[in-house]
Amino acid sequence: MGSDAVDNVNPSDTSDIIAEYSLVDSEQTNLAIEAAYSALPAWMSSSIQSRSELLDKVGDEILGRRQELGEMVAREEGKTLSEGIGEATRAGQIFKFFGGEVLRQGGEIFDSVRTGVDVSITRSPVGVVGLILPWNFPIAIPAWKVAPALAYGNCVVFKPATLVPGTAHIMSEIIIKAGIPDGVFNLVMGSGSQVGATIVNHPKVNAISFTGSVPTGQGIAMAAVQRMAKIQLEMGGKNPLVILDDADLNTAVECAVNGAYFSTGQRCTASSRLIVAEGIYDQFVAAMKARLATLTTDHALKPGTDIGPVVDANQLQQDLDYIEIGQKEGAKLISGGERVARETDGYFLTPALFVDTDNAMRINQEEIFGPIASVIRARDYEQALEIANDTDFGLSSGIVTSSLKYASDFKRRIRSGITNVNLPTAGVDYHVPFGGTKGSSYGAREQGAYAKEFYTTVKTAYTQA
Ligand code: UN1
Repeated sequence: MGSDAVDNVNPSDTSDIIAEYSLVDSEQTNLAIEAAYSALPAWMSSSIQSRSELLDKVGDEILGRRQELGEMVAREEGKTLSEGIGEATRAGQIFKFFGGEVLRQGGEIFDSVRTGVDVSITRSPVGVVGLILPWNFPIAIPAWKVAPALAYGNCVVFKPATLVPGTAHIMSEIIIKAGIPDGVFNLVMGSGSQVGATIVNHPKVNAISFTGSVPTGQGIAMAAVQRMAKIQLEMGGKNPLVILDDADLNTAVECAVNGAYFSTGQRCTASSRLIVAEGIYDQFVAAMKARLATLTTDHALKPGTDIGPVVDANQLQQDLDYIEIGQKEGAKLISGGERVARETDGYFLTPALFVDTDNAMRINQEEIFGPIASVIRARDYEQALEIANDTDFGLSSGIVTSSLKYASDFKRRIRSGITNVNLPTAGVDYHVPFGGTKGSSYGAREQGAYAKEFYTTVKTAYTQA
């Protein structure tokens, strides 16, 4: 069903059109919302055993087909095949995790302040949930919204990003094949102005979970608050990785390279600010330059590729614009940042490293979302921490150090929702909460048992026997 269509173009090879996918409009989105609303009473009261089995089955099927799904992720989004397979694996694990979580729903019993009265606290589904997805994790982020939504008894209206419809369609087919009742899960792909706006403004959509850009998130928040819908927003990051003098140099370089450039830097958890203490600065910069020279930027499905292409022409232009902005601001580009030609016609950008940058520069304050990182010099730990916190964002962060004292202090004082010691800022576990502070996130955390804060609502019941 669809009134319009979009070509799914491979960013590693623009002559490879994966398929044409249909787009829906507002009217069709309304139908999907109505279908979800009608299916809600039965789904809300379905047995936890049946929901658990369904999610577990979806997880198994995703894991069984991870090679195929990983290839689709690599082909349509541009991350490398091993990153794609890793992402599909994570998605399967998430479904299986929530298959178990369904069975672990409990409540609390209190004594009442009134004699002879019992108080119970339970959780109910929020209702119809609208899920608005980004393109950078075509299956992991859909999994971590869809799986808890279904687990806790909600009906879903799922809007995948138009840049990555292939994976979304396979995942949806898997959910349907596993036996989801009609109307419980609905895929509606289309424009933000038609499909997104309809989901956000529809009175029968009780909650909206969104991952994407800050301006879109702000727009969703305004509209949702006006009609009192529940929201959960995951937006940008400008994640700092602090490297102290006592860091193991190899760990520092591997954390920085992984965090800043893997998945082509297209992660909201990417390390874009490398804040390096004076004593290790020159050594770190030299080691980074040498390591970057060993990375291969090429077709995402080609064996040996480390860095796949940028997702599309618009994102590539944005990346190139920021490289120019950085240079104009006085940052020194010491490696990469060039659009390069390969055998196939793709959006290949070599990993860019700026040094001698200042935290106030636009390249250090605005999310770029590409394979671009800056090194910022810090006098000592205190100054490094201050720079790390000097940002509008607060999603992830990291520190590389061999000092327990600094690692412990950093975990306490860094203002981010996720922090890492001697690990990259990106690449999170699937069974624990995910989310940030400040401008990065709004609303309850995603993932792990904490996902229920968003996907359920609390009921307090008083009983007199
Ligand atoms: C990760 O770093 O493993 O959009 C996950 C993003 C995040 C997910 C990052 N929501 O990049």
